[in-house]
Amino acid sequence: MAARRTQADEAREAVVEAALARLDLDAKARLLSGQDMWTLPALPGIGLKSLVMSDGPIGVRGVRWTSDDPSVALPSPTALAATWDPALARRAGTLLAQEARRKGVHVLLAPTVNLHRSPLGGRHFEAYSEDPYLTGTIGAAYVSGVQAGGVGTTVKHFVANDAETDRFTVDNTVSERALRELYLAPFEIIVENAHPWGIMTAYNTVNGTTMTEHHHLVNEVLRGEWGFDGFNVSDWMAARSTAGAIEGGLDVAMPGPRTVYGEPLARAVRNGEVAEDKVDDAVRNVLRLAARVGILDGAEPAVTDLPETVDGRDLAREIARRSFVLVRNDGALPLRPNGTVALIGAAARDARVLGGGSATVFPAGVVSPLDGLTAALPDGTLTYAVGADPNTELAVADKGFELRAVCRDAAGDVIGTGSAPNGHIQWMGSDLPEGVTHEALHSVELTGTFTPRDTGAHTFGIKGIGGFRLVIDGTTYYDDVQRPAKDDPFITFFGAPVPRAQPELTAGTPVEVSLTHLVEFPEDVPMKVVGFTLAHQEPQRAPDELIAEAVEAARTADTAVVVVATTDRVESEGFDRTDLRLPGRQDELVRAVAAANPNTVVVVNSGSPVELPWRADVAAVLLSWFPGQEGGAALADVLTGTHEPGGRLPTTWGSLADAPVTEVVPTSGALSYTEGVFIGYRAWEKHGRAPSYPFGHGLGYTDWTYESAEVKGSTVTVRVRNSGGRAGREVVQVYLAPSEPDADRPARWLAGFAAVEAGPGERGEAVVELPRRAFEVWDEKTNAWTFVKGSYEIQVGRSIADRRVTATINV
Ligand code: BGC
Repeated sequence: MAARRTQADEAREAVVEAALARLDLDAKARLLSGQDMWTLPALPGIGLKSLVMSDGPIGVRGVRWTSDDPSVALPSPTALAATWDPALARRAGTLLAQEARRKGVHVLLAPTVNLHRSPLGGRHFEAYSEDPYLTGTIGAAYVSGVQAGGVGTTVKHFVANDAETDRFTVDNTVSERALRELYLAPFEIIVENAHPWGIMTAYNTVNGTTMTEHHHLVNEVLRGEWGFDGFNVSDWMAARSTAGAIEGGLDVAMPGPRTVYGEPLARAVRNGEVAEDKVDDAVRNVLRLAARVGILDGAEPAVTDLPETVDGRDLAREIARRSFVLVRNDGALPLRPNGTVALIGAAARDARVLGGGSATVFPAGVVSPLDGLTAALPDGTLTYAVGADPNTELAVADKGFELRAVCRDAAGDVIGTGSAPNGHIQWMGSDLPEGVTHEALHSVELTGTFTPRDTGAHTFGIKGIGGFRLVIDGTTYYDDVQRPAKDDPFITFFGAPVPRAQPELTAGTPVEVSLTHLVEFPEDVPMKVVGFTLAHQEPQRAPDELIAEAVEAARTADTAVVVVATTDRVESEGFDRTDLRLPGRQDELVRAVAAANPNTVVVVNSGSPVELPWRADVAAVLLSWFPGQEGGAALADVLTGTHEPGGRLPTTWGSLADAPVTEVVPTSGALSYTEGVFIGYRAWEKHGRAPSYPFGHGLGYTDWTYESAEVKGSTVTVRVRNSGGRAGREVVQVYLAPSEPDADRPARWLAGFAAVEAGPGERGEAVVELPRRAFEVWDEKTNAWTFVKGSYEIQVGRSIADRRVTATINV
């Protein structure tokens, strides 16, 4: 239910009503339609400034898609959830609000609170967990943090956008019970506890109605039952019909300038298709948001006292080490002081710190594992070998490239020059280099030098649609037109680059590179975008040679640390995975290194689960997610033991063959959630399958003894003792299990958690309030929540599989 309105809310509401009354239909319709990729139009007549939105969720990119204006990059959302720490999530929000304000952004397009239904979901890294309670709790804290900094959020993607395949069209058929108990639940928790100022409706359809037109879920459930009073923005290009969207409760259609709102909406009102009060409702929601973020004259912003400034680098490092999940350790970690370390893996040098797609931000600097360990270990104790390179495809030209973007008109005259921090150009809407207009722009040349790191055959490629000419060191390798095979408006961003040249180059000797693109602005695309990529791949050394070199390094070191990773062609927005294997020959590398050195520690650098077939043969396995810009520094903290790894799995890790729910590919346009309420650990338990590592699992550097659990009313008090040799932090997890098993309900589910910090030998107490909802199920006959009376066992422990103490509650 909605929070009671304060006096300040009432005052803002009065300003909103007065502003609304002064707008004519055309201005109202215009306000509901994006004016470009990220903003709404200003309406100076009522003292309204232009509202600026930006992705989200691990940083604030701002309105430009380049590293010219860098952003702090925090660890991936899966990592944030792995901290199981709402207070830390709130601090992440505080930092992001600060970043947003610095960049003139009023609304952050985050958090993503869809669920990890299938491990194949390509955007898994960008969501929190398979569990709705953990997702909602972390999400609510994040939203509170951002909004306490005076910046709005759009909780997304409402709802059931849990996979990427055919995401614009897929009809997800989901029972009302599964919707309520799983997919809607995080949104409900966040609306109830954090009062978000916005929501983003998804691309997909749910039970036959596309989400930007879903009257039932938006108007009846979200606004009606839950009392949401924020604005509802479409996912980018998700709004398809004028009347359908406005009737379905969509307030704003993004991006612009051509959307189903604006002129078409004014016309629909004039010809009687849409009632003007529907438009007024939407405008009211937008003006309320504007008032809250302080861009409507006369309205006091929701936040006038800003929180203290947060140091972004420190926070990124803290979240990273608190998120790392040590799933196995036979004593190899922390590293022995002054021991020698053989660091191995392509991602140890070229770290993968964030996931691909709209979640991309451009940090000012990245600390790789190699950088982090070089700084932390004594001189002469660290060696590095690539071992295996999972980047079997070309990546955005970056290291060694010095580029700029030269814009020309049809006569070939230079009309402007833009910066190009790497080989990816993405200019959306009015975001063009100074002096350049879409009308005059004919070609963009990415030009500059490349200084190779290695000698050999370097591969260059092109991603993008239209005419291209690629010239390297005076030789023209390609001069033709590229056309996409797939019909996705975002293909320029998510498609694969095509290899077009393979010159032999010499390490340290710079060559001239030039990629010219003839720009096109197709009529059917609502926004003008200049987007293309110069891609590159280092010379490929013989894989056997790379592995042999790594094995040799491992053999002579005290410890081998192998960093294995996914690539942006494996995990990204825009597509799903087809398997959970580590790409390239990384599994083989780990096996070979482990055979040479019993002290092999594997660091898994992926945003979501991958299979670890060698896990029993190595000394330790540490999951580092996409660890954000300070990942390598945090890794050094944890490996050397200045800090313990603090993470617990927010999602079950297991093999694809064993995973009970995997399907992400629709059949005849529909994806049926036939498993009902059984996803994640609920499904693994129902099917009696043992995953590699269960939900909630994660080791620190000390031991914990669970002494007792007591329940009084709905309060559970758990006493634990740090029975190990150093201070630590334990995440005490409380699961609720019906005493009489019921095939319709999971065997147990997460009902609460709390952390205890204690020194060696010290005791601590975790106090957990059981929410009423933990005892309820959605009854499809009465269409209401039903409190299920009876006896439940409260099972408390270190993971869903490692339950240490119990208590009984009768309700
Ligand atoms: C994504 C959203 C994102 C939007 C704007 C969409 O493709 O699904 O999460 O906020 O683009 O970048």
